[in-house]
Amino acid sequence: MVQEPTNKKQNLDKKRYNRLAPFYDQFENPMELFNYSRWRAKLRQYIPSKGTILEVGVGTGKNLPFYNKHQKIVAVDVSEKMLQRAKNKKSRADINLIQMDVEELGFPDEVFDAAISTYVFCSVEDPIRGLSEIKRVLKEDGVVVFLEHMRSEIELMGRVMDVVNSIVAKNFGPNINRRTVRNIQSAGFNILKEEYLLSTVFRLIVAKPKED
Ligand SMILES: C[S@@+](CC[C@H](N)C(=O)[O-])C[C@H]1O[C@@H](n2cnc3c(N)ncnc32)[C@H](O)[C@@H]1O
Repeated sequence: MVQEPTNKKQNLDKKRYNRLAPFYDQFENPMELFNYSRWRAKLRQYIPSKGTILEVGVGTGKNLPFYNKHQKIVAVDVSEKMLQRAKNKKSRADINLIQMDVEELGFPDEVFDAAISTYVFCSVEDPIRGLSEIKRVLKEDGVVVFLEHMRSEIELMGRVMDVVNSIVAKNFGPNINRRTVRNIQSAGFNILKEEYLLSTVFRLIVAKPKED
């Protein structure tokens, strides 16, 4: 199943990640070694051990080896080249990889038990729209778990990130000054847990849909 992104900026992201795909895992290796793998392991304890789970922005599938045979994983990404890499990752879970924009999820309401996003909402063009889509497809008692980097809570640092962001976002893609926790709340979630992993920039967040 392929669902091409309809918005122009998302097409740019898709192209950028298509170009990055062959080098992505090697490029990220140092970060995985120092922190990312450890944080991914931490995130796992908040994911239900069975049920249907949506992973958004799955990339090259770095989380896929950690799922178990009782979990059914639906994993989406805008970049077909990243998804091709994900196909090669081994997993005990039943994995369905789909090219799809998180801002326009082609699923009915309230079908997933949980959702996962690792280092994705720095790139998504309209994060609140993407997060609202996750809320729409999550069951009422579902849970969503994030590992994300965002704007520092230290005001001076945050301001520096605001200034540098235009250069970083224009040349490399991801935004470094997103207010991701606020965005998650604005999309209709209650934050159950927020853990600072590295300064206030890298965080683990667990959230549940607010009752309407
Ligand atoms: C920094 S990578 C993270 C990949 C993976 N989650 C990980 O932890 O390694 C960001 C991923 O988000 C995807 N992405 C960006 N915008 C997206 C969107 N609107 N919908 C779906 N995927 C998107 C990119 O194609 C890329 O694979």
